[in-house]
Amino acid sequence: MNSRARRVAISVAASMMTISLAACGVLGASESSDEASPAKGNDITVGLLLPETENTRYEQFDYPFFKAKIAELTRDEGNVKYANAEASPSKQAAQMQQMIDDKVDVIVLDAVDAKSVGDSVQKAKDAGIPVIAYDRLAEGPIDAYISFDNELVGEVQGRSLIEALGNDADSSAKIVMMNGSPTDPNAKQFKAGALSQLNGKVTIAQSFDTKDWKAQNAEVNMIEAIEKIGKKNIAGVYSANDSMAGGIIKALEDAGVTDLPPITGQDAELAAVQRIVTGEQYMSVYKSYPQEAENAAEMAVARVQGRDIQFDALARDKVDSPSHQGIPAQLVPVVVLTQENIRQTVVADGFYKVSDICTAKYAEACAEIGLK
Ligand code: GAL
Repeated sequence: MNSRARRVAISVAASMMTISLAACGVLGASESSDEASPAKGNDITVGLLLPETENTRYEQFDYPFFKAKIAELTRDEGNVKYANAEASPSKQAAQMQQMIDDKVDVIVLDAVDAKSVGDSVQKAKDAGIPVIAYDRLAEGPIDAYISFDNELVGEVQGRSLIEALGNDADSSAKIVMMNGSPTDPNAKQFKAGALSQLNGKVTIAQSFDTKDWKAQNAEVNMIEAIEKIGKKNIAGVYSANDSMAGGIIKALEDAGVTDLPPITGQDAELAAVQRIVTGEQYMSVYKSYPQEAENAAEMAVARVQGRDIQFDALARDKVDSPSHQGIPAQLVPVVVLTQENIRQTVVADGFYKVSDICTAKYAEACAEIGLK
C-alpha cells in the first residue's frame, strides 16, 4: 500500500473506532515462544528507556504494559531494566551506556533528543545490542521503529480545531499554536499535520515550540501570546498535547477568560478527559498505548530470539530518519477523542473507569453528556 492509501485506510479505521485491546497483537503469544532454533531462550533482558515523567502516559501505561507483555512472552523468565530520562538528553545517554555496560539483549528507546542519542545508538550497535526506536524516531543505526502515525495525529488535531470553530473559522480568526519539544521529531510531524489543515483557513497569530513538552513552559508561552494578541481576540488554541493544554487553560483562566476558546490536546490523560467532559478542552487524541507497548515488546523478543519472520511481520512499514533510510516500522492507528466517544475509547479499553472520570467535581458535567 502506498503511504497515502495507508493513511486513508488508517483514517477510516480511526473513524470507525475499531481499536480494541483484544485485537492488538499481530502475533499471539502462543505462536511466539516455540519457534525452531531461537538465538536465545526466554531468559533475556530487555532495556526500556522512556523520555520523561511530565506526561502521565509513560509510567501509567507504556512501562507497565510493556513489562507485562515481556513477562507473558518469556513465560516470566525475561527481565525488563527500566530507566526514565526525565527530559534530560545527558541522563538518557548515561542510561544507554549503563544498558550497554550491563549487556542487555536489546534496547527499546524513546528518545528525549532524537538527534543527540544517535551516538549512543551507534555504541549499542557496536556492542552487538539491537535498538528499537519507540514512539520517537531516534537517529543512528536502529533496527526498527514503532509509533503512531504522527502526521495523522496533527491532521486530526487541526481538523478538529477547524470543526470546533465552525462559522468562526475564517482567515481573520487568530489561533495560537503550542507545539511540542523541538528535540522530539514527533513534534515536527504533529505540527506539519496540523498546519496542513489550518493553513489558509485561520491566522496563526503566535506559534511556539515548547521546551521539554512542559505544561509550565506552555503556560509561560501562553501568557506571552495573550499579551500580544489580546485575550478577547484568541479564537482557538492548537495544543499538541494534553499536559500543555492544562498550562494553556491555566494562563487563559488567570487572565480572566471565562468563555474558553476551543483547545486541542493529545494523549487522553485523565485530567484532559475531565476537561473534555466540562468543555474546557475540546478534544484529545486517543492513542492505544497498550497496542504500541505490547507490539514493541513482541518486536524486541522476536529480535533477540532470532525469529526474523515474526520480526518482519511486526514492522512492515518503512520510514526514513535524518540519518538512516528504509527503517522497518509499525505505525499504529489513532482515534479522535471528544465528548461523544469517551465511553467507546478510554472506558471501553479499560484506561479509566467512569468513576475515575466522573468524580464529585465532574458528576454534573458527566450527567449532562450522559456519561454514567
Ligand atoms: C510525543 C508523544 C506524545 C506525548 C509527547 C509528550 O513524542 O508521541 O504521545 O507523550 O511526546 O511527551
